[in-house]
Amino acid sequence: MANDTKKRFSHATIEKNTGLLIILSILVISFAGLVQIVPLFFQHSTTQPTEGIEPYEPLRLMGRDIYIREGCVGCHSQQIRMLQSEVQRYGPYSLAGESVYDYPFLWGSKRTGPDLARVGQRYSDEWHRIHLRNPRNVVKESNMPAYPWLQKNSVEGENIQDRMKVLRTLGVPYTQEQIDAAPGELVGKTEEDAVVAYLQGLGVASRDAAARAVEQGSH
Ligand code: HEC
Repeated sequence: MANDTKKRFSHATIEKNTGLLIILSILVISFAGLVQIVPLFFQHSTTQPTEGIEPYEPLRLMGRDIYIREGCVGCHSQQIRMLQSEVQRYGPYSLAGESVYDYPFLWGSKRTGPDLARVGQRYSDEWHRIHLRNPRNVVKESNMPAYPWLQKNSVEGENIQDRMKVLRTLGVPYTQEQIDAAPGELVGKTEEDAVVAYLQGLGVASRDAAARAVEQGSH
């Protein structure tokens, strides 16, 4: 009995003392957060690239940066969830290991348009070009904005080597030869070339590995 009264008393004390309640809540939430988050830094499935995943080649890396600049992520997610309906529509669900070279990742949370995690090779390059110049030319009711300037802007002379070096400091294993050769790969290319190359690579190399993971039920 005495014990009970004491317990009720201490709980009441916490509830009545807002400052104490806030501090204890923060402690509990922080601890629970750490328990969930910290193991992810060490798990193989979240830190190692999925089979087939390589660092972005220079042109695709530029395409990715343009995708970020143009705000495509505001309308397109790149994360297929583990739901039957999503897998049927978009393909094998996304694995954490597919995003290990994405700084920042572009999973997104808004789907005004379809998910793009596995859009690579679904359409021809030409389809993408027409679509980017004016989406209404291929999908009549589309409300996606047109990006006609991409075909006019050159990516040549962009600071591609600096971009790759920064990524290397974050752990993306670019070799010195790849960095040296990078500017040459952008010669004569437009921003549209870069975005199309980026889109055409999305979810392709890791597709088989992801499909196997779906079959085995791991993630
Ligand atoms: C305002 C929202 C919005 C923005 C911003 C946007 N899109 Fe879209 N996107 C859509 C909608 C809606 C569709 C579906 C209709 C269509 O195909 O045009 C779509 C379709 C697509 C498709 C075809 C996907 C499929 O599976 O059929 C691709 C590829 C695409 N967008 C790429 C891009 C890129 C690249 C950018 C940035 C340069 C971008 N989108 C920006 C709304 C948007």
